[in-house]
Amino acid sequence: MLMIANWKMNMTKSEIFAFLDSLAGEDRWRAWRDRGVRLVLCPSYPYLDFLGDQCKSRNLPFGIMAQNMCAFEKGAYTGEVSAAMLKDQGVEGVLLGHSERRQYFGETDGAVAEKVTRALSTGLLPVVCFGETRQERESGSCAEVWSRQVGPVWERVRKSRAEGIQTPVYWAYEPVWAIGTGQTAGLEEIREVSSHLRKAFGEDCASGLLYGGSVNDESVSGLCEKGTVHGFLVGTAFLDGGNVLRVFDRLFGRP
Ligand code: PGA
Repeated sequence: MLMIANWKMNMTKSEIFAFLDSLAGEDRWRAWRDRGVRLVLCPSYPYLDFLGDQCKSRNLPFGIMAQNMCAFEKGAYTGEVSAAMLKDQGVEGVLLGHSERRQYFGETDGAVAEKVTRALSTGLLPVVCFGETRQERESGSCAEVWSRQVGPVWERVRKSRAEGIQTPVYWAYEPVWAIGTGQTAGLEEIREVSSHLRKAFGEDCASGLLYGGSVNDESVSGLCEKGTVHGFLVGTAFLDGGNVLRVFDRLFGRP
């Protein structure tokens, strides 16, 4: 199970210290890791290196991923961060196509596909977010939206695989109406997504499906089904170390 904390534009140094202090106890994290459960933290760019060092010095076996990156390799793109720079920072993967990127920064399905190609060729694990708005759900166009968002990316993944790049890909199903609202999709809806990916793109495509959208210690147990959900992408709740522990305890038991 991959448990990812998407910190978005939150967490300064002092807050990161407080977060890590509240998670102290390296033994339990190693025990969870040995059971196949991983915690991955996604801070803002300036803290990637710092957070990696802090985790190492505390013997906390957490992964570090970025929240975004540029599709271009390098050059005159002021304000952007390349895949190679993320690799340099010891980052293992990157969230791509989050609905906030699509909504506020105009990221298109095509741009997300370009970024995924770059991530794969650089050896970064892409976690590709997709999901419908409330209006799209109400108008019955979910399947069409999912295919439109996943299709171009899956095409790139297959092409990369044909070229010998075997980096896995995770999909984060994050219905826009569930993000930060306190409402979650039900297990039934997540099953529907999983079966849609299987039918539209093949068995392989659904093998790394995460769910995100108002996951917390109360909602998480009802959203977990072996073989369907391979992890969670958590925003608000995982800004707080106490909540992280509560979710882990509830799902995986205290080692
Ligand atoms: P949320 O955010 O857990 O606060 O709903 C999830 C996300 O946007 O990744």
